[in-house]
Amino acid sequence: MQRKGLIRVSIMLFVLTFIHITVYADAGQISDDTQECLDCHAIYHPGIVQDWKKSRHAVTTPKTAGKAKALSRRISSERIPGNLKNNIVGCAECHSLKARDHADTFEHNGHEIHVVVSPNDCAVCHSVEQEQFSMNIMSMAEKNLTENSLYQDLQKNILGTARLGKNHLEFMPADDLNRADACYHCHGTRLQVKGFKERETDVGELTFPIIDGWPNQGVGRVNTDGSRGTCSACHSRHQFSIETARKPYTCKQCHSGPDVPAFKVYSASKHGNIFNSQGQKWNYSSVPWEIGKDFKAPTCAVCHISLTINSDGEVINERTHQMSNRLGMRIFGLIYAHPQPKSPDTTIIRNTIGLPLPTDLDGKPSADYLISFEQVEIRREAMQKTCLACHSNSWVKNYFKRLDGNIAASNDAIRTATQQMQTIWHKGYARGLSNKGSIFDEYIERRWSDAWLLYANSIRFSSAMAGGGDYGVFENGRYHLSKTLMELQDWLDTREQLNK
Ligand code: HEC
Ligand code: HEC
Ligand code: HEC
Ligand code: HEC
Ligand code: HEC
Ligand code: HEC
Ligand code: HEC
Ligand code: HEC
Repeated sequence: MQRKGLIRVSIMLFVLTFIHITVYADAGQISDDTQECLDCHAIYHPGIVQDWKKSRHAVTTPKTAGKAKALSRRISSERIPGNLKNNIVGCAECHSLKARDHADTFEHNGHEIHVVVSPNDCAVCHSVEQEQFSMNIMSMAEKNLTENSLYQDLQKNILGTARLGKNHLEFMPADDLNRADACYHCHGTRLQVKGFKERETDVGELTFPIIDGWPNQGVGRVNTDGSRGTCSACHSRHQFSIETARKPYTCKQCHSGPDVPAFKVYSASKHGNIFNSQGQKWNYSSVPWEIGKDFKAPTCAVCHISLTINSDGEVINERTHQMSNRLGMRIFGLIYAHPQPKSPDTTIIRNTIGLPLPTDLDGKPSADYLISFEQVEIRREAMQKTCLACHSNSWVKNYFKRLDGNIAASNDAIRTATQQMQTIWHKGYARGLSNKGSIFDEYIERRWSDAWLLYANSIRFSSAMAGGGDYGVFENGRYHLSKTLMELQDWLDTREQLNK
């Protein structure tokens, strides 16, 4: 009996010590502020809390994360303030950073918090990613669209409400709600705090900010602290999982339309096929990412963003959140393919006749604002480092040679289409810039923009993303491009005859 009692007591003591240690460890890691958020939000927003619990943020302190070896470190800031360093990254850590910078900061159950967690907030622990992303054209996507008069005109004639004018259709500018629902879903909205409002909740009356343009996860969103861009465009809250970012579905959200068919082309490519048929068995969470072992064919991230190593642990390519440092040509026609812009802010670009376009109407690049052809080669070599881990040198060289042939041929076709369109404007069959008209508000002008915005782009994307096949020919490719040139000519000839 006595012995049994003793054993029971020692077991209890052991259990108590164990509980004490675990409770103590947890108490040291979750801040009191976050514990309060969790107590309430686990009831009201189990979706958010459970999602966060699965994240690395919920189990790792910046201090522990900082101890990892260079290539496997998942935080990049050198100095992280003491109060943040020793706690796991919880609700309060993110939602109350830099409170004064945020126009949406409000008092919430005894805490000063903001709703919109911006790249500048993430930068407290991930400064390198934020700096690089601020040099990525994506972080400027809202500005590049709203502050370019030609693109605004294009936007108006796509989104605007159509009315019947005297002899023609007139497009009124779209309202904010429709803009946010359309172009700015991807390009990002401008968030504006319009005041604060009290509302009845399960815990009584609470005050919340009224934020125009929200919710939105567009890549170039202007945030409530004035910063540009959204990390959650690719790092969905609240898991912020690297696995999600590395899979092509993340990019599909914005890169799949007929103007930018990257995802469709990729899915139809050999790379996409291997991803689709074998990708379930790959390892998407290891950092750094080993080519051959962790995965066998590239996803979008592998070619454009990822840090990759070989089996000796040597770096094949550095990670980049800037992305243009692996891109030579801009294959997205504006209206021709051209060398990448020097600055992610494309609103500064002017062509020789003063239009905010990176090329002249005959295709000549606006060289002052674009990288040189030597730079194009250097940046492409950066991309090719990754290809060469799985392909031979001649495979890759010939592949890029073919892409260049494709760029030259598709640009040529657009030159012809633009000459046809210029004749149409010149002869007064459509109102163009010279008679103060819009170049996007008549049917024949839309056919011209189909040629460069849809078909020439599809042809180039199919080549660049190794999809070839249908997207370069029958599915919005060469078949449609040549047909459009015929249609422009036929339209012009008919007008000429009617004029006679
Ligand atoms: C006393 C309970 C309670 C505490 C503590 C609490 N919240 Fe909340 N929180 C709520 C409720 C209730 C809502 C509103 C739910 C709804 O939309 O009706 C809310 C809403 C929010 C929102 C959304 C605001 C909006 O504009 O819709 C955020 C963000 C938020 N809380 C973050 C936090 C953070 C971060 C903490 C800890 C620092 C925290 N909360 C602590 C109860 C709480
Ligand atoms: C266009 C999509 C995209 C956007 C936007 C983006 N990221 Fe990433 N991010 C990725 C991808 C893809 C990876 C995986 C990189 C790899 O495999 O090496 C990644 C990786 C990371 C990692 C993991 C690094 C590591 O060592 O494990 C961090 C941290 C990160 N991003 C932070 C950010 C921050 C902060 C922002 C906003 C300033 C941001 N990202 C914006 C796509 C994006
Ligand atoms: C790593 C930083 C980070 C952490 C940790 C974090 N959040 Fe968030 N939270 C964000 C980001 C980013 C958004 C997206 C807001 C935006 O930018 O539009 C967000 C959005 C929200 C929203 C509004 C989203 C919606 O769908 O209505 C709520 C509510 C919220 N967080 C609550 C919480 C709670 C509760 C926790 C703790 C369990 C938490 N957050 C932890 C970064 C964080
Ligand atoms: C207070 C510091 C801190 C802040 C603020 C912060 N993070 Fe993190 N982040 C971390 C830590 C710590 C980890 C985990 C590192 C590890 O596991 O080694 C991490 C990991 C990550 C990862 C890698 C996840 C994975 O699955 O590998 C991504 C992506 C990421 N954070 C994105 C963000 C984004 C986006 C924001 C802003 C919305 C943000 N973080 C804000 C500290 C922070
Ligand atoms: C589904 C997402 C999405 C929507 C919606 C969208 N875009 Fe875009 N936009 C993109 C992507 C992706 C690119 C970059 C393509 C590339 O570089 O290959 C882009 C680039 C652009 C550019 C080039 C800007 C520059 O100077 O770099 C213009 C102009 C543009 N879009 C106009 C529009 C207009 C006008 C609308 C609405 C009628 C719109 N977009 C709607 C995804 C979108
Ligand atoms: C929320 C929408 C969105 C998501 C998600 C997104 N992008 Fe983009 N991306 C854009 C827009 C919009 C632009 C064009 C911005 C401009 O031209 O001003 C762009 C531009 C680009 C460019 C052109 C860069 C350059 O310098 O020419 C590349 C490459 C790109 N994205 C790759 C990716 C990859 C890879 C992913 C997934 C990991 C991704 N994007 C996810 C919207 C998005
Ligand atoms: C096999 C590597 C590879 C894969 C996989 C890949 N890309 Fe690309 N991507 C390229 C190359 C090469 C270019 C053209 C670069 C050049 O001309 O210098 C390119 C160009 C682009 C551009 C055009 C940038 C511009 O404005 O000119 C976008 C956008 C893009 N890729 C997005 C994606 C998306 C989204 C995915 C996944 C669905 C993806 N890529 C998959 C290699 C790849
Ligand atoms: C992680 C390995 C890996 C990387 C990185 C990679 N590829 Fe591939 N690629 C493959 C595999 C595997 C195949 C399928 C080969 C086969 O079908 O026999 C393939 C096929 C191709 C094809 C053949 C398409 C077809 O349908 O005939 C081309 C072209 C190609 N890759 C170009 C590139 C280029 C260019 C890059 C870099 C921008 C690149 N690849 C990067 C693994 C890779």
